[in-house]
Amino acid sequence: MRKINYKEYWATKSSPGNRRDDNEFCQKKINEVLLHIKRGGIILDYGCGNCNQTKFLSPHFDRIIASDLSECMLVEAKKEVEFSGIKNIIHLQADEDTVWEKIKQKVNGIISTGVIQYFQSQQLEKFIEKCVSNTTDDGFIVFFDVINPLKFLFFRYNLVNNRGSLINFVRCIIHATYLYFLEHNPEKNLGEIGYGYYPEYFIKICMKNNLNIEVVSSIYYEYRYHVIIKKRIY
Ligand SMILES: C[S@@+](CC[C@H](N)C(=O)[O-])C[C@H]1O[C@@H](n2cnc3c(N)ncnc32)[C@H](O)[C@@H]1O
Repeated sequence: MRKINYKEYWATKSSPGNRRDDNEFCQKKINEVLLHIKRGGIILDYGCGNCNQTKFLSPHFDRIIASDLSECMLVEAKKEVEFSGIKNIIHLQADEDTVWEKIKQKVNGIISTGVIQYFQSQQLEKFIEKCVSNTTDDGFIVFFDVINPLKFLFFRYNLVNNRGSLINFVRCIIHATYLYFLEHNPEKNLGEIGYGYYPEYFIKICMKNNLNIEVVSSIYYEYRYHVIIKKRIY
């Protein structure tokens, strides 16, 4: 499958292209986020998009650093935050190579929703290590809405809830076989939506780095899950 340069892809986008971007849905998504993290302190929302979701985090933290690589997206994010009268969100244009030197401090937590699907596995492993060294010892790193490749194929070929046709079932088997046998990297190229990862990829990295990990299913997306990483405190 053709590889997309995701940084170029996002550089000119001004909307995250989520399934729903209305306030009611964004509030529900943040309620889900809050089930998994400790409130308070300073957090980094990495890949904040237009801050439609980030703004609902605002009452729960002292300060939020909302970063994104896309200047166009940050223009929309700033408008949204200003319009909502929020004072504790600051914006930062950065990618995974520049964000750490720009924030210059350890944060209490890192949230990243729908972003690591644009990272290849080596890039992602390095990013996780950087996240760990830039959070406090009692902090958290949460990747929300990671794509499970097989569940995504079920969704894409319309097989969820037994609604699929035989032809789609066959297509799904062929695609899954291709991903399993011919894509040898942990990241599974799913096209425009980015890369899918199986939970085992994160579990291995956490075991290697002596980190606690929890994996939970997404409430609102059939094929996504969340990865919650914490340091082990002795
Ligand atoms: C699908 S949107 C999600 C936005 C937001 N987190 C949300 O859930 O609504 C993905 C965002 O990640 C940003 N992004 C993609 N690759 C990135 C990278 N390497 N570093 C920082 N941001 C990135 C894009 O610019 C975009 O705003």
